[in-house]
Amino acid sequence: MCGIAATALKPPYRKDTVQLLINLLKALEYRGYDSAGVAVYDLDSGRIHVWKKKGKVAELARMLEKVRLNASSGIAHTRWATHGPPSDVNAHPHTDCLESVAVVHNGIIANYKELKEELIRRGHRFESETDTEVFAHLFEEYLRTSEPFEAFKRAVSRLEGYYAIVAITTKDPYKVFFARKESPLIVGRGIKGNFVSSDIVSLLGVSEEVAPLSDGDVGWLDSEEIFVESEGKRKSLSFFKPSWSPAQAQKGSFEHFMIKEIHEQPQAVKETLTSVISEWEKVMEVVRLMEEWTAVVAAGTSYHAGLVFSYLLMKLSGRFVPVIDSSEAHHYSKVLRGTVIAISQSGETYDTLKAVRIAKENGAKVVGIVNVVGSTLDREADVTVYTRAGPEVGVAATKTFLTQLAVLGVIARAYAGQSKEEVGAAASRLPDIVAKGISMSIGYAKELSRTLAEKRDMYVLGTGVSYPIAMEGALKIKEISYVHAEAYPAGEAKHGPIALAEPGFPVVIVWTPEDEDKLSVAHEEFASRGSEVYWVGPEKDIPFPKVEWHEVPFAATPPLQLLAYYMAVRKGLDPDKPRNLAKSVTVH
Ligand code: G6P
Repeated sequence: MCGIAATALKPPYRKDTVQLLINLLKALEYRGYDSAGVAVYDLDSGRIHVWKKKGKVAELARMLEKVRLNASSGIAHTRWATHGPPSDVNAHPHTDCLESVAVVHNGIIANYKELKEELIRRGHRFESETDTEVFAHLFEEYLRTSEPFEAFKRAVSRLEGYYAIVAITTKDPYKVFFARKESPLIVGRGIKGNFVSSDIVSLLGVSEEVAPLSDGDVGWLDSEEIFVESEGKRKSLSFFKPSWSPAQAQKGSFEHFMIKEIHEQPQAVKETLTSVISEWEKVMEVVRLMEEWTAVVAAGTSYHAGLVFSYLLMKLSGRFVPVIDSSEAHHYSKVLRGTVIAISQSGETYDTLKAVRIAKENGAKVVGIVNVVGSTLDREADVTVYTRAGPEVGVAATKTFLTQLAVLGVIARAYAGQSKEEVGAAASRLPDIVAKGISMSIGYAKELSRTLAEKRDMYVLGTGVSYPIAMEGALKIKEISYVHAEAYPAGEAKHGPIALAEPGFPVVIVWTPEDEDKLSVAHEEFASRGSEVYWVGPEKDIPFPKVEWHEVPFAATPPLQLLAYYMAVRKGLDPDKPRNLAKSVTVH
């Protein structure tokens, strides 16, 4: 959802500024790829240079291949369009009338229309349709009467909405100014200089230590210092060393991040299980919190993890917890009480954070299931249980889903009264099941993708625990291959969906031992109308190992991910960067 990066490098490295910013943008590109841009202050010419372009970072990188300016500060942006369509002119950075300011922004400035009218009345000329450009002119306006940091703060104080905003100015060319409200922003200290960025992953290769900013923080950095204020007072930041290595966020020999991350799942599940079981006290704390009324909130793939959790918990213990889609959670504010379990890979999804804030206003305790240490959800939750998936770069979530299921499975079992040893024994089979789910199905998924990639629509059916897995499979297929895949409970299909059954219409059935009859009936109903029916299950069209019902998510998910992946690849699509999607959705 728009990626921001900025830096001020020490003198010997200044000529690397543009190339370094391009590298940071490459790491941030999963946050949006409608356009990309860079602005730096060039000490030799004494002015700000801006380059920006509709399209992916690679195009901007080609354009700037040979640029080596002696830059004292620089900012960069990769855009996921909200106000104004993707175009060169709407691309960030935005500048003011005097070209004395350049700004990048992630978020939404709710009062931009009023501010724009006011600024036009004062004689400012606008070039783009974005809300962000307003900030460039506001900053310019206050620079007339105030010192740069004061002017920046005055401009920030006029904004309504939410933002991570970063700017440079010719009036103090060694500094990068930044402010955060409800959109992520992390500062980093490195050997070459200081940085600020939308996420930790982009900072891995350049920063030794990072510190997330909080809402209301405003500050600046130069190559030596990072200064932050909150409510007008200087604030000391808690820096930590990221546990992820830069190599983890590289593709290595894989063609795409998605396939790399699919293959990393056995290890990711193993590490997550080891970590969560070793923190048994924390698991028991969650179990105690769940003695209160409990609801789950999550979005996208994390929502599907919530559905699997709810099902598992109900089957193992008889307890039912509702799972609420984060974007709808504000309508359910009355039930966001007691304990709210928020599941989020990034820990930055706006809708999930909003639900968490409603819950906290209601006096609820919040449990976060989070992959990114130091993310907003991590900091706002009363208890955080981490998934240990490592950095996930592919936009479509894969390994983080199975690691969420690993954590949630442990919590469900503990709630059901299983001991640490019993949980450990049940968990020990899972990494191997995931590995077999991949190795047994990969060739078949690749083969079937040939047929399914040609289709326009399809159903993915399941029952019991395989229904939310069918939902996740359909989401993967839809988001990366653009084939319209819809999931239904197998028995529900006859209440409407079957109207689409006709020769050639594809249906994928996700096996579970819970109610094979239900699945077979659905098969017959579709097949007798000429539909092409394919099964994902033991000894089926796309095989996975024969497992117990509660292990089905770990066996059945990889084949569906692989099917989606190969469908996208066959269509010549980039599975890592599906159109219109962003990995971390920080707007509502
Ligand atoms: C976006 C991503 C999805 C993800 C969802 C929730 O829509 O494209 O892959 O599942 O956000 O993200 P979270 O970080 O909260 O799990």
